Amino acid sequence: MKVGNDYYTGIWLNQKDPHIVQIIDQRKLPHQFEIIELKTFKDALHAINDMALRGAPLIGSAAGYAIYLASLEACNNKNFDHYLLDKAEKLKNSRPTAVDLFKAVDMQMDAILKGKCDAEKVGIALKTANKITKDIIEICKNIGLHGLKLIEDISKCKNGETVNILTHCNAGWLATVDYGTATAPVYLAQEMGIKVHVWVDETRPRNQGASLTAWEMLNQGVPHTVIADNTGGHLMQHGLVDMVIVGTDRTTLNGDVANKIGTYLKALAAKDNNIPFYVAAPSTSIDFTIRDGVKEIPIELRDPDEVKYIQGWLNGKIQKVLLSPEKSPAANYGFDVTPARLVTALITERGICKADKKGILKLFPEYDK
Ligand code: MRU
Repeated sequence: MKVGNDYYTGIWLNQKDPHIVQIIDQRKLPHQFEIIELKTFKDALHAINDMALRGAPLIGSAAGYAIYLASLEACNNKNFDHYLLDKAEKLKNSRPTAVDLFKAVDMQMDAILKGKCDAEKVGIALKTANKITKDIIEICKNIGLHGLKLIEDISKCKNGETVNILTHCNAGWLATVDYGTATAPVYLAQEMGIKVHVWVDETRPRNQGASLTAWEMLNQGVPHTVIADNTGGHLMQHGLVDMVIVGTDRTTLNGDVANKIGTYLKALAAKDNNIPFYVAAPSTSIDFTIRDGVKEIPIELRDPDEVKYIQGWLNGKIQKVLLSPEKSPAANYGFDVTPARLVTALITERGICKADKKGILKLFPEYDK
């Protein structure tokens, strides 16, 4: 997607040296655009843990490349497979909610362990990481096409007046390698000349909406307004939101959706105001093995300092300031679960379906076991 006049994806291999993976440092956006190089498994793991990159599909892709980097290191190790299995475990302990990470690591390990020698295993690791990444780009493109129809319909009902879409967190191209999930239909609608406007939830505590989604919208020329997290309900009551589209970190077979903390409250407000609440759900984020999201999805608990401090741009540099009394304890739940009954529909790469087992399995029959 566009950054100024250039095109970027969220992760790529260095063209001159394929032993280096490159990413945009999302901790510095929107104030500084910096590319960082991941040369070791440790670099990649740190980037995931510290959220230099984030967003479920991008975490999946990065986990794939992290295993590839580990495979390069494993060649200098006595036991290649043991080295890799240890790194796979470390990755799985990094960010527990996004299922994409677990799927990518398992896909890598299943493929690599079939290799007959170290060199072949490294080749498989690179091929698999590239495939995970290429696939998610294609998936997002298709989510865009299916979601576009929903925006088109609302636009027609409004006689071409602006369609107001509310989104939470960043489910944009930064979070998914390219296009985004929740944003893909918006970018397509904009491209087709449909009038859209996006309400961007700031998304405390890390402000992925205010810093990342707003930056993406600005670069793509999409009209948008950043709002404090608690504003959505008020806007909905006053007819200023036509639809909500959010992403997902893990959706269960029954259609419960884990997404960034605060999503559930938006879904409740949308229900109360009769506003459609859509979840852009790539199949990579669907956990076909679980049903009850509240009981079964592990919710990441992060450093309380992310709540107590806020980061911004001051005097020409990025700075952090303390918000709460220093001695007050804080809790930092990364995600919440929106029950399926509050989700109007899931927008997947294979089409739009009801957020329930029947709807999901109709589109993904291969998981009907
Ligand atoms: O903690 P983050 O920034 O990784 O959380 C990201 C989200 O919750 C996104 O909405 C989700 O991963 C979907 S991204 C297409």
